[in-house]
Formats: sequence, C-alpha cells, structure tokens
Amino acid sequence: MFEFILPLSLVFLVLYILTVQFRRTRKHGEPPLIKGWIPFLGKALEFGRDAHTFLAAHEKNNGDVFTVLIAGKYITFIMNPLLYPYVIKHGKQLDFHEFSDQVAPVTFGYPHVSSGKFPGLPEQIQKSFRHLQGENLDCMTQSMMGNLMLVFRQDYLSGESEWRTESMYQLCISVMFEATFLTMYGKPSHTNRHSGMVTLRKDLVKFDNMFPLLIARVPIFLLRGTKAIRQKLINFFHPNKISSWSNTSVFIKERAAIFEQYDRLGDIDKAAHHFAILWASVGNTLPATFWAMYYLVIHPEALAVVREEINSVLKASGIKADPNKDLSLTREQLDRLLYLESSINESLRLSSASMNIRVAKEDFSLQLERERFIQVRKGDIISLYPQSMHMDPEIYENPEVYKFDRFFEDGKEKTDFYKNGQRLKHYLMPFGSGSTKCPGRYFAINEIKQFLTLLLIYFDVEVLEGQKPCIQDPRRAGLGILHPATDIQIRYRLRRD
Ligand code: HEM
Repeated sequence: MFEFILPLSLVFLVLYILTVQFRRTRKHGEPPLIKGWIPFLGKALEFGRDAHTFLAAHEKNNGDVFTVLIAGKYITFIMNPLLYPYVIKHGKQLDFHEFSDQVAPVTFGYPHVSSGKFPGLPEQIQKSFRHLQGENLDCMTQSMMGNLMLVFRQDYLSGESEWRTESMYQLCISVMFEATFLTMYGKPSHTNRHSGMVTLRKDLVKFDNMFPLLIARVPIFLLRGTKAIRQKLINFFHPNKISSWSNTSVFIKERAAIFEQYDRLGDIDKAAHHFAILWASVGNTLPATFWAMYYLVIHPEALAVVREEINSVLKASGIKADPNKDLSLTREQLDRLLYLESSINESLRLSSASMNIRVAKEDFSLQLERERFIQVRKGDIISLYPQSMHMDPEIYENPEVYKFDRFFEDGKEKTDFYKNGQRLKHYLMPFGSGSTKCPGRYFAINEIKQFLTLLLIYFDVEVLEGQKPCIQDPRRAGLGILHPATDIQIRYRLRRD
C-alpha cells in the first residue's frame, strides 16, 4: 500500500509546486497572457507542433503583442514587424547574449566564457567575427571558390557527360560541407583534402539531429550516444592538429591565437570552441543551400533567367568556364548577380524559422510605439518570430508561392516592403537582428551563390519524375533554417555548350 501512496503523493507535490510556481496572472500594463492548462509546459506542445500557425491564431485573438508560457518560460511575442526596431535597438534592459553565454557552452561542451574565469574572452571572441567580413571576406570568398571547384571536379565533374542520378540534399551537403570546412580550417599540409571528411560530416549530422533537444536543455547523457559523438567531433579539432593545417582562414587562426592566451582553457576546451564554429558555419548553410537549389531546379523558368545572368556576368568579365580550370569570380562580380541573390533571399524567406530572443534583465516598461508601452518582468523573454513576417500576405503577396525575382526591381535589389502602408525597416530576417545578427551572413550568401554558379554553368540538373514535392520538417522551428523532411532524386550531367 505504502509503495503506491509515496509515489502518488510525490506526483501531487510536484504538480502542486509547478501549479503554484506558474500561477502567474496578468498585471496592469502587461500583454495578454496565454498559459494553457498544463503546469510548466504551458503551450509548449502546440507551439512545437506548428509555431507559425500557433502564433497567427493567437495574434488574431490577442493582438500583436502577447505573452505565452512555453516550457517554464514566459515569452512575449512581438508580432508586428513595425514594432521590431523598438526591440532591436533596446540595449540596456534586454540581454542579447543569452544563447551564446548560457546555452552554447552546454551544447558544444566548452566552459562558460562569461563566468569570470576568462576575463576579456567574450569580447575577444566577438571581435574575431570581424574577420568574416570586409577585406577578409574577399580572401575567404576566393578560397571557397577554389575549394568548391576542387570538390566538384574530383567528385562530380569527372569526364563523361551521361546523366547520373543523386539525392539533392546529399549533393548539397557533401560539396558545401567539405568546401566550407577547407575554407575555414585549411587543408592537411601534404594533400588537398582531409581524410575522414565523410565520417566527420555524418557525425555532425547525428549531433545536429539532437540539437533541438540540446537547446531545450535536455541533458546530453539522456540522448543516446550523443556525448560520445560530440567528443569525437571535438577531438577532430585538437589544437596540435589544427596548427599543422595550411591555408587556414584568418578568422580561425585569430581564434586559435586568442585561446592560447588563456592557460585555463585546456586543449579540449579550445577544440570544443572550434567545433562550435564548424556547427555555426554549416548548420544553417547546408539546408539553406538545399532550398536555394531545390526551388531553382523545380522552377526551370527561374533557373533559365539566373543561368543567363551568370553567363552574362562571366562574358562581360571575359571569363570562359572550363571544368578543367579553376573559375574565379570576385566579390564584385558576385554582387552583380542580382537575380541569383533574389532567388536565394526568396528561398531563405520560405525556409527560415529562427526566433530572435532577448532576456529582460529587470522589471521595466518597454516602449513599442511613441505612446505605447508594455510592462515586462525580469527573466521574461522578448521574442521576434520573423517567419510570421516572411509569410504575411500584406507584406509579401501570395507568401507561400516561390517568386525568384521578389527581391529584384528595375535592375536593382528591391528593398521596399510595406505593412499598414508604412515601409518596413526589417523585412527579411533569416540571420537574426541587432547585436546577435549572424556575423557569417555575407560569407553564407556568397558561398551559396558560388555553389549555384558552378552548378548552373557546369551541369544540367533535373528532378526525376514521379516524386512528391519536398516539404519542411517543422522540428527545428525557432532554431534557424528548416530541414527538408525528405530528400529528392535528381539527375545531372555535364553541360555540353
Ligand atoms: C544561411 C546560412 C546562415 C544562417 C541562416 C545563419 C543564421 C544565424 C542566426 C539567426 C544567428 C543568430 C542567433 C541568435 O540570435 O543568437 C547566427 C549566429 C551566428 N552565426 Fe550564422 N547563419 C548562417 C551562416 C553562418 C556562417 C557561414 C557562419 C560562419 C562562417 C556563421 C557564424 C555565426 C556565428 C559565429 C554566430 C554567433 C554570433 C554571436 O555569438 O554573436 N553563420 N547565425
């Protein structure tokens, strides 16, 4: 009898504590509060099933700002993109680095950098991001082109011009993963390619599959085998190994030099930092490359316009594409590929579902318009959910339709998009916002452009008939670019002209 009473009373006690702890009621000046009936979890399950539809329904009922209890956190969603600038510019009371400071160390396995044990390290890490932009971006872009050519030539461009079949996602991830890796970390001293790349990529995919759970702070020991895989991935970046590689990017070299200044960082800690950057550099880029390619390939009329644009930029620069010679395109030439850029932006609009998070450092009154304020409690999360903006029919006509030239107008990039008759400052946000905005965004767009340029000039590509269209896997909603739920078979061959 006692065996039943004890566990039962424990369950009631836990439920009682959770109910009391999450018995929050809406105070004057606070946004509408949506808690659901499940203590602690609140609306987590509904949100997780389909965040976009969930938020749209609540916006209809509660207006453009409301607070939702999700897995123990009170999250205030700012739905109206005209209000985004008020959150993005708000520095003093909102903490922008919750993810990098709290979640990233636990996820990637390095010690907390902001713990005071490593004075100046967070600032130096932030400063190192400048090497992903400006002049260094030219070097990285040039190096990326060489590496893409290397992998394409050795794995896909060999000789014959018969049709070959392949899975589209596999093609994207095998080429982009290795070329990005070589560009960032460099190559072994005596050969052009690292051995063990396929295993490294597969291990990263396994780790990445667990990423949504790790971010939700599920302890890694509960995720079967993930800790061992993470350790294997980390070991790949042992400082002794990295230092023997050549052609390493200035960005990675600078980070390695920063870590050397800290005696309290062990070799494995340093390796874990390098591993985290590998994840950041490919985690979103690989699915983003897939969607950019997928939408072009299933829209042959768009593909023809983009291919024509690439050919005319090459022709104007006197470049003749030859699969046996490295093709070099400067950043300036890449910048002239506006249809291509628009098609990439359009695929990012359709596939990105990142959540921009800030944490309130104190109770305060957040100004949202000239005369509009909401009360925010310390510890609450303020969130922007740009997917809702990307799919807003008032901003983007027929938002579910792929329109490759949506971001192109009168020979230049289209940047004016409107809500309630007012021009939006932020209308496309796959890379986050404000001070946590992705520092790799220019490199990411360039490398996707380079991949597609090479693909379109060297290959004919078609989707094999009789397959269902690719749909998005909703499991990463809130975390970046959605993955395809299934792969799709293509056939490709070397172009003859
Ligand atoms: C299409 C590709 C990419 C997308 C959609 C993307 C998206 C994002 C987003 C949304 C964030 C902000 C996360 C937050 O709010 O805290 C972020 C951060 C970051 N991204 Fe990217 N990213 C991409 C490619 C890259 C690449 C290629 C690199 C490096 C070469 C990179 C490096 C980083 C780093 C280091 C951060 C953390 C910045 C910080 O801690 O302040 N990303 N990315």
